[in-house]
Amino acid sequence: MCGIVGHIGHKNSVHVVLEGLKRLEYRGYDSSGVCFKNEFGNLTLFKKTGKLHNLKNLLRGVNLSSNSCVGHTRWATHGVVNDQNSHPHLNDTISIVHNGIIENAAEVKKDLISEGLQFKSDTDSEVFLGLVHYSVRQGMSLFDAVSRSFEKVQGNSAFVIQEKSSNQILAIKRGAPLVCGLNFKTNEVMVSSDPYALVGMVDQIFFPEDEVVCCLTGEKDKPITFYEKNGELSERYVSKKQECGLEPQEKGEFEHYMLKEIHEQPGLIRFLEEYYFLGAGKEVLKNVENEKPSRIQLNACGTAYYAGLVIRNFIESINRIPVSAELASEFRYRDPIFQESDLGLFISQSGETADTLAALNLCVERKVKTYSLVNVEGSTLSRLCDQNLFIKAGVEIGVASTKAFTQQVLTGRIMAESLKGTPSYGELRTKFSLLAHRLEVLLSQVDKIKKIAEEIYNYKGFFFTGRGQYFPIALEGALKLKEIAYVHAEGYAAGELKHGPIALIDEEMVNVAIIGPELLEKAVSNVEEIKARRGVIVILGPKDRKDLEALSDHYIPLNFDGLEELSPIYVNVANQLLSYYMAKFKGTDIDKPRNLAKSVTVE
Ligand code: M6R
Repeated sequence: MCGIVGHIGHKNSVHVVLEGLKRLEYRGYDSSGVCFKNEFGNLTLFKKTGKLHNLKNLLRGVNLSSNSCVGHTRWATHGVVNDQNSHPHLNDTISIVHNGIIENAAEVKKDLISEGLQFKSDTDSEVFLGLVHYSVRQGMSLFDAVSRSFEKVQGNSAFVIQEKSSNQILAIKRGAPLVCGLNFKTNEVMVSSDPYALVGMVDQIFFPEDEVVCCLTGEKDKPITFYEKNGELSERYVSKKQECGLEPQEKGEFEHYMLKEIHEQPGLIRFLEEYYFLGAGKEVLKNVENEKPSRIQLNACGTAYYAGLVIRNFIESINRIPVSAELASEFRYRDPIFQESDLGLFISQSGETADTLAALNLCVERKVKTYSLVNVEGSTLSRLCDQNLFIKAGVEIGVASTKAFTQQVLTGRIMAESLKGTPSYGELRTKFSLLAHRLEVLLSQVDKIKKIAEEIYNYKGFFFTGRGQYFPIALEGALKLKEIAYVHAEGYAAGELKHGPIALIDEEMVNVAIIGPELLEKAVSNVEEIKARRGVIVILGPKDRKDLEALSDHYIPLNFDGLEELSPIYVNVANQLLSYYMAKFKGTDIDKPRNLAKSVTVE
């Protein structure tokens, strides 16, 4: 959701913050802004709706030399998208940026108005500024004002606060991501909602726990200090060396990150195989081999949830352990029944999805052991789970998740093998190699998929259908198309269409039928039913099937030989390409689709 970057340094703060905001663009935003201490020591504010270049235009000709700056990319929750509602929010002496939602904002605002405070925006965020400002006016230090104000706001949030009179930036969070960083040579300090903003700028990164007040000064003896809200020094943070490099995040020869990330998949599969079967991941698998859960509670959102459905099928058929797979946003508000020796399994690319973290907290409260399949190492999810199986997908920039899905499913498959207790990793390695090879072949022959995309992208609506292990792939295919091509698409279990949705079928509707070796004949019958109602048929199915070719208007032949078990991933990559090219023909903003954020850190 919203991106935060703050910096204290040597005259270069605005530039560092703008570079950080640029890196956070991939998360999705609708406006941006910076507030910095100018040459006269005053806080000066610039903010603008639209892309970052609008803000940069506004800054043209301005003296940007500054030792302290906070910046923000906004993804609107409270208040429409306009300049005034953009962040930072500033009164004369204090500025704040915010990521999250203040649930009791209306109530607190009413109280502050009755105390004579005025508000410039419709945001919940400005309410926090009001609280801090009010407390400072009553004589409190900034530290106390922030600590007290934070206790008064409900909901998950991260705030970064800058004050004119002191050369410090404070930050505090609850249930929202926050990371601080320090450059040992220069004593520059940074804070952000995403470690990616800090790459190459700092040597050490720090992840504070909830309610810890981070105090950034950039001073030689105490550049960054962590406190409890009562002012005592805090040790509730994790510190690690900043290791990730920037290079792999460039687009290279590809027009979009999404396309690049689709093409990275064969290499990543080989990397995952090496990591778990030959490298450091071996140690983790030894722990998994000793687990004997009686049931698995699997939780995730969006694409990660669909990966979870494939993993559920693996675990239930291989391990005969019942898996209850749920959308984390629903699970968190139910009153689920936990049993002794349940295992909570959480799947996430970012490791920061608010609903997934809330589901995790529910398991932690009930003392259920927790595992993650997560990409971002050091993310909140990875810090809170008892055991992490990292999916090793590298940084995923495209808002539409592609390579993370593949790596999640495969890591889940590895986990299922380990849960056997006496795993046969050798066979699995062969399957991984074959999958990587088949994907390479598919990716070298994209022209056919591109041509089909060109012919169908303007149709009214799309039904992605699949049965058995291809049902989650139908759901994922429809999600991908919706989010990047802005067309209505539904993922459906092929056998369910006749229970209602078939009423929608006419010559303006496309059925993308995912047909693999499993339940093939039944899936074909379902396509016949749609064909009989004049729907346009696209089949992703086994090669050399003249009957399927004849039945379809467009046929994408796939070589499933020897790949049966991992075939959902194979077909899914074909789906990813289809969606990508349809979006390209529609001319949408593929890497940063409208209204979406890469990491959904609010409910
Ligand atoms: O970071 P997470 O994997 O927890 O994110 C979950 C969903 O928000 C994410 O998969 C979303 O559905 C993607 N935009 C799908 O492409």
